[in-house]
Amino acid sequence: MKSRIGWIGLGKMGVPMALNLCGAGADVTVFNRSREKSRPLCDAGANLAPNASVLAAQSDVLFTMLSDDAALRQVLLGDTGALKEMRKGAILVDMSTVSPTVSSEVAEIANTFGLRYLRSPVSGSVALAESGALTVMASGPIGAFEEVRSILGALSARQFHVGDQEQARVLKLSINMMVGFTAAMIGEALALGLKNGLDRTTMLDVIGASAVASPLVGYKLDALKAQDYTPAFEVTQMAKDFDLILEAGRKSAVPMPMAAQMREGWSELIADGDAEQDFFKYVELATRRAGMRFDDRRETAA
Ligand SMILES: NC(=O)c1ccc[n+]([C@@H]2O[C@H](COP(=O)([O-])OP(=O)(O)OC[C@H]3O[C@@H](n4cnc5c(N)ncnc54)[C@H](OP(=O)(O)O)[C@@H]3O)[C@@H](O)[C@H]2O)c1
Repeated sequence: MKSRIGWIGLGKMGVPMALNLCGAGADVTVFNRSREKSRPLCDAGANLAPNASVLAAQSDVLFTMLSDDAALRQVLLGDTGALKEMRKGAILVDMSTVSPTVSSEVAEIANTFGLRYLRSPVSGSVALAESGALTVMASGPIGAFEEVRSILGALSARQFHVGDQEQARVLKLSINMMVGFTAAMIGEALALGLKNGLDRTTMLDVIGASAVASPLVGYKLDALKAQDYTPAFEVTQMAKDFDLILEAGRKSAVPMPMAAQMREGWSELIADGDAEQDFFKYVELATRRAGMRFDDRRETAA
């Protein structure tokens, strides 16, 4: 890994991902809007850039891991955007979950400046980011993908190249839709079980050993038993992704009634004051809708 790597965006995911690059001995320079979040990276040997533009100009490979469309636009595009500072032939790897629409805008500008652009969102949680076990799905020029593959390998367990345009964006949104559905289906199953005399922990143990168990279900079981909603991925973040899913569906004339209905549940949680809780708080929404508390053992209406 001889490339000079730039990293913009040190949130819940960006910090552990960039730390894994430092741990692999890469030459990493970071920038984050809130400067204090750079500290763990500096402690791990990363350099600190004074701003995104300076970092873009000096990077062979520039990574971005930002909240949403607005953040990506603000950091990369426009008069003050960092994209125009990158040198011709450099590689931009955006790992944020953003819409195919904003990603196409980035692609167009990147093309104008002779940059190679990889849309590279990730599947996995903060815990998987920490252990370097994320899954990367990338689309864009295959040559650039092959060039950065060893860098991606330092922060992820699996890397897939899925197309040369916005395919990775669509795939990521599709996967997150299924992740969101998982919270809802467990919630409705628990509500039904609890109201009919089943014990919550017993149910979760059996679900975890059943045909519907998945890696996601597996690593959420303990948190669900403990009713621990420390956010790995917040309700507001999932609401944002469902907006992107529905927008992509509309643009492609793909009816998505389940996703549309579920989007309202995220609003319900936000209205209930759970915006910053982990999205698995949805299980409690389902039990509340059934007139119960999630921790009730044999439920009577609350
Ligand atoms: N958390 C997960 O489990 C997970 C899993 C897979 C994918 N993702 C996706 O990965 C991305 C990052 O997620 P995260 O959980 O790390 O989010 P996060 O903790 O909210 O971090 C967001 C990052 O974006 C930066 N940012 C936001 N608006 C900005 C702006 N206008 N200008 C400059 N920087 C801005 C933040 O800077 P400040 O520190 O200054 O606020 C921060 O570095 C999101 O697209 C998310 O959907 C998350």
